[in-house]
Amino acid sequence: MTQTASTHAGFWDRMARKYRAQPISDMTAYQQTLDRVITYLSPSSRALELGCGTGGTALELAPFLGEIVATDFSAGMIAQAEAREGAENVRFLHADVFDGVLEPGAFDVVMAFNLLHLIDDIDVSLARIHALLPPGGLFISKSPCLGEPRLGFKFGLMRRMIPLMQRVGKAPFVRYDTIAGLEARIAQAGFDIVETGNYPIRPPNHFVVARRL
Ligand SMILES: C[S@@+](CC[C@H](N)C(=O)[O-])C[C@H]1O[C@@H](n2cnc3c(N)ncnc32)[C@H](O)[C@@H]1O
Repeated sequence: MTQTASTHAGFWDRMARKYRAQPISDMTAYQQTLDRVITYLSPSSRALELGCGTGGTALELAPFLGEIVATDFSAGMIAQAEAREGAENVRFLHADVFDGVLEPGAFDVVMAFNLLHLIDDIDVSLARIHALLPPGGLFISKSPCLGEPRLGFKFGLMRRMIPLMQRVGKAPFVRYDTIAGLEARIAQAGFDIVETGNYPIRPPNHFVVARRL
């Protein structure tokens, strides 16, 4: 694991127990996302999930996949995931995207939900995701685009609070990509974007399905 990654993992370790206990904040948007993701999966697919958190989404998607390796750089999150009732074709793994156990070209689908906005070395990470897929493989991501204008009062306020909260360890690193900026980075990493959406629309949690060129 990289030094930068491991220094950020502590925040998520502290959050893990509470994160698992929390209900999903927008069930409609979550279900819309799952419905779109499932259309790209098949019982023969080998999937990798990055930043799986406490593993709920991996377990939801498992019935539509051959197998899924669900990873997170927070040992606390993985411990919470492993404490859930599992499924035979799901393996939880304490690892970040650069971990050597993840072999280049080994996955048909790489997924990352609510993760890209938390990664500082995003272009290097996208290059690595590209390498983990064979040509034609799919990268499916959903990530808040906090650089969009007119996020609304609540999120505008939150945006001003984040630097203060970061100073006292109460918020993680966050990026402020726009939708166009994020899509450009994904395309630049060697992907063809095949579907996009926002679930929810405001503030935009941007869904992207991209095929490795
Ligand atoms: C906002 S939570 C999202 C969890 C889950 N994917 C979901 O949608 O509920 C972000 C997760 O990404 C993990 N994470 C953050 N930065 C990471 C990185 N660089 N590599 C791997 N995991 C990371 C955190 O530990 C945390 O579990």
